[in-house]
Amino acid sequence: MFANLTVVDHPLIQHKLSILRTRTTPPREFKPLVSEIAMLMAYEATKELPLEEVEIDTPLEKTRGRHVAGKKVALVPILRAGLGMVDSIAQLIPNARVGHIGLYRNHDTLEPVDYYFKVPGNESDRFFFVLDPMLATGGSAVQAVNALKRAGAKRIRFLCLVAAPEGVTRMLSTHPDVMIYAAALDRGLNQQGYILPGLGDAGDRLFGTEGIP
Ligand code: PRP
Ligand code: URA
Repeated sequence: MFANLTVVDHPLIQHKLSILRTRTTPPREFKPLVSEIAMLMAYEATKELPLEEVEIDTPLEKTRGRHVAGKKVALVPILRAGLGMVDSIAQLIPNARVGHIGLYRNHDTLEPVDYYFKVPGNESDRFFFVLDPMLATGGSAVQAVNALKRAGAKRIRFLCLVAAPEGVTRMLSTHPDVMIYAAALDRGLNQQGYILPGLGDAGDRLFGTEGIP
């Protein structure tokens, strides 16, 4: 449907996503589910990571094997909710560097407001994986990619749990080179910019801050 979108619809992911969407799922269950889905999605999103040849001593003889060039990978969560996706992917790629991009959506304009940017020193061949559970209007994702490109990043992928067509379209028109991996493509946005059917406010549900201004 979109040239820049892969929906990773493995049964395990869909099962966990349905629990995540459920209104009554509390933060203590929400957090591990976000983490597990991110890990399962990373399997697909990292399919083309470069490998380095290494020499190995098995108990019997020397042979050659391949290692993921982990130092060439950077995981970049968009604060806050993206934090929930980092640790499980970092378990798969322990040498990955981790950057942080601080953005929040202005509730009235829905435009992102940036407050923090710190990413690993850029190597032009580094793979950047931007992490955020929600791709709604796409404003935050586009702003994060703008900032990474300004810092010299060339290879960028975006991993989210739930994407809205509006956000995917905005990324496609602004950054057609950035592939998006999502666990679901939902119907659209409501007037407040929330994804429908969605899962609500990902940051609030992760950190239990709902209702706190
Ligand atoms: C949420 C979400 C994304 C953004 C998506 O963050 O985690 O970053 O909204 O919306 P967009 O595609 O319309 O930009 P939020 O602004 O609520 O900040 P938080 O994670 O600090 O709660
Ligand atoms: N941000 C969220 O956390 N949820 C949405 O549905 C949209 C933006």
